[in-house]
Amino acid sequence: MDPVIRVIDLWKNYDPNGRENAAALRGTNLEIQRGEVVALYGKSGSGKSTLLNILAGIDRPDKGRVEVEGKGLESLGEEGRTQLRRRRIGFIFQFFNLLPTLTAFENVFLSLELAGNFDHQPAYQALQAVGLEGKENRFPSELSGGEQQRVAIARALVKEPAIILADEPTGNLDSQTGAQVLDLLSGRCRQFGTSLLMATHSPLTCQYSDRILRMVDGRVVEETSCAELPA
Ligand SMILES: Nc1ncnc2c1ncn2[C@@H]1O[C@H](COP(=O)(O)OP(=O)(O)O)[C@@H](O)[C@H]1O
Ligand SMILES: [Mg+2]
Repeated sequence: MDPVIRVIDLWKNYDPNGRENAAALRGTNLEIQRGEVVALYGKSGSGKSTLLNILAGIDRPDKGRVEVEGKGLESLGEEGRTQLRRRRIGFIFQFFNLLPTLTAFENVFLSLELAGNFDHQPAYQALQAVGLEGKENRFPSELSGGEQQRVAIARALVKEPAIILADEPTGNLDSQTGAQVLDLLSGRCRQFGTSLLMATHSPLTCQYSDRILRMVDGRVVEETSCAELPA
């Protein structure tokens, strides 16, 4: 079976002069298998967000290949990448990124609708699965940070994606709430067999992961543990 994500020799340079040692991604390679929970651990500026955005088809590489479930992103075209993103990839961000004028339920249901499912029930179930039963009609401003991130987890899970990409999912939470969110996110992904790739500069995240990829200057190296490593 194809891996969920395969990245081959990926390059991205934001520098208008194209200096190689200024590139955000410098020949990145990685594979994520089905159901794996993986930490992408590295310092600020090491290229984590750039990589996630390219995996999501939001940004495009200068060079290299990205396959999602065996399909090359370049060959899909803009429309194909949008459909893939809506149906097969879930996202979780540092600042939650919920739509402020929609309730918790509506935020989750919108994600489902965009994936082509107009049934309300999975949205209620997804909110229940993250412990938000009874808070479906609240707006993001009426929820704590941890609760908002739970809504974001429900929004990502509800479409039953192949993979969830989480960019600093606990970066805006205190450590106790962050640990609860990581426990919930990794636990639900394991329960549903959803792959999870979490970009982080927090060693805590590694404790919830099957595998640790360390990002250093735009390249990925496999690590056995990040407990001893500097952030
Ligand atoms: N839109 C952008 N324009 C120019 N430079 C960028 C942009 N996004 C990221 N960079 C640069 O690319 C490098 C990697 O950044 P980023 O992927 O955000 O790293 P991380 O998520 O690990 O903090 C940094 O040097 C950053 O300044
Ligand atoms: Mg980042």
